[in-house]
Amino acid sequence: MTFGAEERLILSGLELMEIDRKAFISGLGGSATVASMNSEAKADVLEDFMMEHLNEIGVATQGGASGKYPTMAEVDAQIETRRHRRGVGNLFLSHARNVKRLPPMPAKPTLADFFKLRFHVTSKHVLQSANLAMKNGMSEEVILACLLHDTAQELIKVDHGWWSAQLYEPYVPEKVAFAIRYHQALRFYADPEYGYEYPDLYRVLFGEDYKPEPYVEAAYKMARGHKWYGEARMVTVNDLYSFEPDVNPQLEQFADIIGRHFKQPAEGLGFDNSPVAHIWRSIARPDAPL
Ligand SMILES: [Fe+2]
Ligand SMILES: [Fe+2]
Repeated sequence: MTFGAEERLILSGLELMEIDRKAFISGLGGSATVASMNSEAKADVLEDFMMEHLNEIGVATQGGASGKYPTMAEVDAQIETRRHRRGVGNLFLSHARNVKRLPPMPAKPTLADFFKLRFHVTSKHVLQSANLAMKNGMSEEVILACLLHDTAQELIKVDHGWWSAQLYEPYVPEKVAFAIRYHQALRFYADPEYGYEYPDLYRVLFGEDYKPEPYVEAAYKMARGHKWYGEARMVTVNDLYSFEPDVNPQLEQFADIIGRHFKQPAEGLGFDNSPVAHIWRSIARPDAPL
């Protein structure tokens, strides 16, 4: 099976995320089916695959000192090769085709409605993370933090820990918002005591010689000494970035935890006049021109 240059780069990213290329190809219907596709169709299926299974996909390049990862300069050099910026939220972009019409939201949307109708790219990843946290016997707060930790990436990816925490802050315990906010910074720093290593994926996404921004380092240092460090750290420990093909947890599995710890506003998310209501509305209505 042959892929174009850009697709090959994406595939090497998938490999770094321990995604089995053979399983991927057989999932498409086997080599013969794939061989009959034109390059646009291949790009489409690759896009579908990534949309379904991954939320932190990056494009690998060949190069860098290791030959396995790009350098920061190579990552930077890709900026002007795209029509979009990398930090754009999932809802606002389709890599392979025109965007689709979104299903309407109910008048008083709940968290579950957002999961089903808007969190198309992030939901599988966060459900898998929360499921893993549950299997690992984490507290309900950590499980909830895992369930919510990346969902603001539907709106914006830049500083997604801060955005996600802000989105949920009025509705969840402070400890949960803290864990969501700081998972982003902690992801860059290994902690062998918790069995957390620097992710290979980040060498792909940021470049192998990347050093986190000073504000990220400051956030890490603050969180490291905080009484809720363990909660934030456990989000990173249960944060999956590889695709688990046979694990398909459903939101219903977490209904009790959501019921106990998430204060669903009676008016619906986006309509409760909270300081973050407009953020929910922006996720609900990404086609609004202004
Ligand atoms: Fe994250
Ligand atoms: Fe994540």
